[in-house]
Amino acid sequence: MSSQPHFYVTTPIYYVNDRPHIGHAYTTIACDVLARFKRLDGFDVHFLTGTDEHGQKVQKSAAAAGVDTRALTDRVSRNFRDLADAMGCAIDDFIRTTEDRHYAACRALWQRMMARGHLYAGSYAGWYSVRDEAFYDESELTTDAAGARVAPSGAEVAWVEEPSYFFRLSAFQERLLEHYERHPDFVLPEGRMNEVASFVRGGLKDLSVSRTSFDWGIPVPDDPDHVMYVWLDALTNYITALGYPDEEAALYRQFWPADLHMVGKDILRFHAVYWPAFLMAAELPLPRRVFAHGWLLNRGQKMSKSLGNVVSPYDLKDRYGLDQTRYYLLREVPFGSDGYIGHDSLVQRINSDLANDLGNLAQRVLSMVKRNCQASVPAPGAFDPADTGLMAAAGPALLATVREALDRQAFHRALEAIWSVIGDANRYVDEQAPWALRKTDPDRMATVLYALCETLRRLGILLQPVMPDAMDRLLGLLSVPAATRRFADLGDEGRLESGTALPPPVGIFPRYVEADADDPPAAGA
Ligand code: ME8
Ligand code: MG
Repeated sequence: MSSQPHFYVTTPIYYVNDRPHIGHAYTTIACDVLARFKRLDGFDVHFLTGTDEHGQKVQKSAAAAGVDTRALTDRVSRNFRDLADAMGCAIDDFIRTTEDRHYAACRALWQRMMARGHLYAGSYAGWYSVRDEAFYDESELTTDAAGARVAPSGAEVAWVEEPSYFFRLSAFQERLLEHYERHPDFVLPEGRMNEVASFVRGGLKDLSVSRTSFDWGIPVPDDPDHVMYVWLDALTNYITALGYPDEEAALYRQFWPADLHMVGKDILRFHAVYWPAFLMAAELPLPRRVFAHGWLLNRGQKMSKSLGNVVSPYDLKDRYGLDQTRYYLLREVPFGSDGYIGHDSLVQRINSDLANDLGNLAQRVLSMVKRNCQASVPAPGAFDPADTGLMAAAGPALLATVREALDRQAFHRALEAIWSVIGDANRYVDEQAPWALRKTDPDRMATVLYALCETLRRLGILLQPVMPDAMDRLLGLLSVPAATRRFADLGDEGRLESGTALPPPVGIFPRYVEADADDPPAAGA
């Protein structure tokens, strides 16, 4: 086992009934940024995503499409795996709940809860929503415009009566509340922690954890007429992937408990109430944090297949660029809140933040260096406070600010802090006017251009997690070797070496130019 600090981050495992859309990409990209950040910060990282393939919803979708359930799951699961790759997400594992390793983990967890007396046989009579794969209490339901009973999510519900095993969730109310009390950051954002705690304070009923009216699931040990409730099955994926039930498995020993389960706010209750209760029942350690992010909205509504307002992540990538899309998603919407995405604000971010603020800065500096410093890293004279101040602002101090923001998943704050230094650098260029020094004070010009190259190096290193390809190009233009692009290289020890030859400068962020007027914008805003 490695002595390095470690970081285990997970996305939800996505249902295979749906085409991957930008909402799924959003969650996975956010996790990828954290995973890349931690790797560069010296952590051993395990980054997991995958697909949730059992349950009535998937079985019904296959039946509706007239295809074999197994064939549907294979095809759609593949689409989600491809999406992670296409979005530049460097995952360490992709789990499918239909894999053998997952059956073994679910059965072991079930048996462990059973052996400790937390499961019992009974029968369920109540409301169920297939879309949410959730049981609802009568008191939770509302009515839709047509007067039909619906779940709080708006999903259709049906009355279900069937033999079922129950989990003694009611017995865990106090322990859960104590846990929230002792770990106030167990759920973020803060407001979501309050929602979860007040739900639990309102009283917990025992939870139905098996179904008998269909068979697309993992059979219950010693009672194969039952399949496990799909959420018990799905949540277990987070330990399956580490080798559970082998608690001596290297991955399990190193990475459990997870540092972060990243989820959308729709599925917070499952992660912040049921999952920790299952783990308590099995006497296994609890994850350290569940972060519930908000909705990406398009034309004012949550994007969903049924509303037909789904933005394709592939369209965004093709039209605007992958790094641009990644940056935009994490910068535009304060992470945790709901937010609109659309063509106009995306173009604004690309042209202003990327092409202007950062792209132009790099372009101006690197072309001056090419023309005036023999296309190599300039040799600085003595530094002024303005020079050292700028380089220091982009170094370990900025890393500390970014780290603190990302430790609370505040991507927008991390990016704001970095852009504030980019603003400093642009003001510095204007104030120092290196182009005017060429004749009057070439030494001073070289010093200023050195400070700017070094600032760009630091910014390039720090921005790699969000925009890996563009920052690879920027660091390449500065001839920074691949081996010295970690956060440990951010400080003065990693400084650019004068005289290093630099390749011909090329733009890193093209401006977005409006295409044909009758070509409808992909993000439809
Ligand atoms: O719930 N905005 O899977 P799912 C932001 N299988 N995020 C969105 C989004 C949107 N408009 N739409 C979807 C499931 N998401 C279960 C999870 S985990 C053990 C089992 C993202 O396919 C967001 O992360 O319905 C949300 O929680 C997730 O997709 C739901 O994916
Ligand atoms: Mg869903």
